[in-house]
Amino acid sequence: MEKMKLLVIGAGGREFAIAKKLNESPHVDTVYCAPGNIGMVTAGIVPLNIEEDDFEALIQFAKDQQIAWTFVGPEDALCAGIVDAFQKAGLKIFGPNQEAAQLEGSKDYALNFMNEYHVPTAKHETFTDLKSALAGLNDFARPVVIKANGLQGGKGVVIAQTTPEAEDTITEMFELGEEKLVLEECLVGPEYSMFVVVQDDQYRILPMAQDHKRAYDGDKGPNTGGMGAYSPLPQLSDAERQRMIDDVVEPTVSGLHQAGYNYHGIIYIGLMLTAAGPKVIEYNVRLGDPETQVVLPRLQTDLVELIDANVNDRPMPAIEERDIAVLGVILASKGYPKKPVHGQALGSFPAAKDIAIDYANVKGHLDELHGDGGRLLMVIGEDADLQKAQDKVYDYLAKLDEPECFYRHDIGDKALKN
Ligand code: AMP
Ligand code: GLY
Repeated sequence: MEKMKLLVIGAGGREFAIAKKLNESPHVDTVYCAPGNIGMVTAGIVPLNIEEDDFEALIQFAKDQQIAWTFVGPEDALCAGIVDAFQKAGLKIFGPNQEAAQLEGSKDYALNFMNEYHVPTAKHETFTDLKSALAGLNDFARPVVIKANGLQGGKGVVIAQTTPEAEDTITEMFELGEEKLVLEECLVGPEYSMFVVVQDDQYRILPMAQDHKRAYDGDKGPNTGGMGAYSPLPQLSDAERQRMIDDVVEPTVSGLHQAGYNYHGIIYIGLMLTAAGPKVIEYNVRLGDPETQVVLPRLQTDLVELIDANVNDRPMPAIEERDIAVLGVILASKGYPKKPVHGQALGSFPAAKDIAIDYANVKGHLDELHGDGGRLLMVIGEDADLQKAQDKVYDYLAKLDEPECFYRHDIGDKALKN
């Protein structure tokens, strides 16, 4: 393989982790990230001054620099049709087209897909007006799950405990201009993230991870984009994982093929392991943030070889996992997700053995970083087992002095304190 120049689209911690992993491959010359963030420079990644929705400028850059292929991080670009635009320009790109991206862009579209291809999910119903949605509440027990139909950055889901709360939520969503919403049976069980690299009817499964969506310790507080993650999942048996593959991954990939998407990209399956078996909570059409930051360090397989095979329709190499545990904790801006502080000065993040800092919403200069709202960075530790990785990360965090930030103190406890 000739040494390649690669382009990653996006700006967050997930894109940091993707670009860093690609950059580790011997097949790579340079990894660019558009727009990226200033923190990426610490990992030898080259941020570009091009916005992720400026397809014309991105295509021009890819042509000028002879980019071998582009890896799309975020869902917004996929839902806006970046893959279609690149392919029309004769460029190789990893990600699903705009049609297939509706599996994430519209909850209703995803549920119809699951119904058609017999993928197990929660009992659900879609509504387009207030009156029938309120009446529809009668068909569901409490708590009931209420989801806005479109993209919400993981924050458009409300689990209403009581009927008045459900009625208020539904009324508010329609008042805010939502055109469709979905009511769902509330599933119970541990939640896991599975990332499947799909090449039409072929697939490979990346190491699994668990995210923590609620803002505060003990799964309290509002839903966020994700506050921490770890991999592997020692609490998940081989038989349970196999059942997820048989019951969920197989019908999903065969559905993607039958639907004629010619899907080349990631399908992220958010799963709940209920008493009645695994059920899909959601599909996303890209890797998870922050799960990617702990999943990719566990990948032994060369990510460049995997994606290069995928986009060129050669057989993908097998997935080999490193026998280590990786755990990461998000450092978020005070007030996130409702009203995050912006612009606070951050202290320094000294180098430490087997600790990585994957930057996300930061700005300024490398020696004087400032927060830019939301999830600022992730502190990631790797070690022989999860307990050691957890200790390592929390020891590191305890030494930081970041009064305008916060983090969860219990990432990994679901595996360690059972
Ligand atoms: P989503 O935006 O679809 O990822 O949902 C956000 C979070 O809400 C999920 O990660 C779950 O924790 C929770 N959730 C979504 N759907 C359900 C459901 N049917 N039952 C229980 N929890 C759910
Ligand atoms: N970590 C959840 C997501 O990426 O949607």
